[in-house]
Amino acid sequence: MKKRVMLSAIGIAMLSALAPLAQGQDVIKVGVVAEFSGPFAAYGQQIETGMRAYMVQHGDTVAGKKIELITRDTGGPAPEVAKRLAQELITRDKVQFLAGFGLTPNAMAVAPVVSEAKVPMIVSNAATSAITTRSPYIARVSMTIPQVSAPMAQWALKNGVKQVFTVVADYGPGIDAETQFSKSFKAGGGEIIGSLRTPLQNPDFAAAVQRVKDAKPQAVFVFLPAGEQGIAFVKTFNERGLSAAGIKLIATGDITDDHVLEAMGEPTLGMITAFHYSAAHDSAENAAFLKAYEKASEGKTGKPNFMAAAGYDTMAVIYEVVKKLHGDIDGDKAMAAIKGMKWTSPRGPVWIDPETRDIVQTVYIRKVEKKDGKLANVEFDKVADVKDPGKEAAK
Ligand code: PHB
Repeated sequence: MKKRVMLSAIGIAMLSALAPLAQGQDVIKVGVVAEFSGPFAAYGQQIETGMRAYMVQHGDTVAGKKIELITRDTGGPAPEVAKRLAQELITRDKVQFLAGFGLTPNAMAVAPVVSEAKVPMIVSNAATSAITTRSPYIARVSMTIPQVSAPMAQWALKNGVKQVFTVVADYGPGIDAETQFSKSFKAGGGEIIGSLRTPLQNPDFAAAVQRVKDAKPQAVFVFLPAGEQGIAFVKTFNERGLSAAGIKLIATGDITDDHVLEAMGEPTLGMITAFHYSAAHDSAENAAFLKAYEKASEGKTGKPNFMAAAGYDTMAVIYEVVKKLHGDIDGDKAMAAIKGMKWTSPRGPVWIDPETRDIVQTVYIRKVEKKDGKLANVEFDKVADVKDPGKEAAK
């Protein structure tokens, strides 16, 4: 009798010693490297809350594994910090996936790290075309800037715009926007009468806007990273009387970001943009996403935008991979599972191009209007199944 008691005591001791190990094996860790502080803090918040919205809707366990997010803040565009955080997440925290990356320089810096470690990296925003060419372990669920810039050029041409001035942020996605817009616009007979690039950090738009005004184009095409910069640009554009002078403002939808649209106010009314996601998108999937986002946000992160939607899709991809691999994550098998993956996103039908590991999706032409008393990017035209045209241009 005594012996049996002793044995079971040992058994319990052994079990509890093994418990952390067993628990570790039942968890899949996703390292989220993004901007959670500084002027781009909304990027990380939107992406993470979008990811959590997916978990609110689908539960936190898949294929018997509990999904755990580990977030790390780059503090802004900081490639060296992003690289270090990714290395630590892989070696110390043993994450099976990396995700996040609002800004291009942060995503670019991590490419060699995931190549070396063979860890799948899902880009939830950063949109410079070349990012996915930097490592076979990168897939992207957001967009590429050329993918949304080409349809904007085509719409402008169809609607009688013949002369455009371009203004873009002076880094990867801005240069992609300028290159692709100009290429598509000129190919259709349009003329670019001037081009300007503004700094990524602390831009002052007064001089740029004045130069556009003096050049008197029919329209100005703009790419600026979503958030504060769009607010500042639109304010300066109106204060300097460009709309009054009849100059149209066309852009990728980053500028009328749903998260800050209300703050930009009535001057945005009538603005035309091309983009892959609008919070006003009319579908059952989007309605469910908005509801889940509200729950996940607990009122803390404001209105969801395209980064939140991409965060949600980041988790859609991760859950599907975990399911397909029965919870046993291997980098090469994960990437094979992602290639060609198809699903219905809150933005509409999407799939991952197996050749580029970039998302293929509908690009919508939208106009800012009042909907139920609130400003909204209302979709009124679209181009279906758009691949990234930027890869061709870069060859
Ligand atoms: C990027 O850095 O790639 C980026 C940032 C903000 C955007 C789009 C792209 O709105």
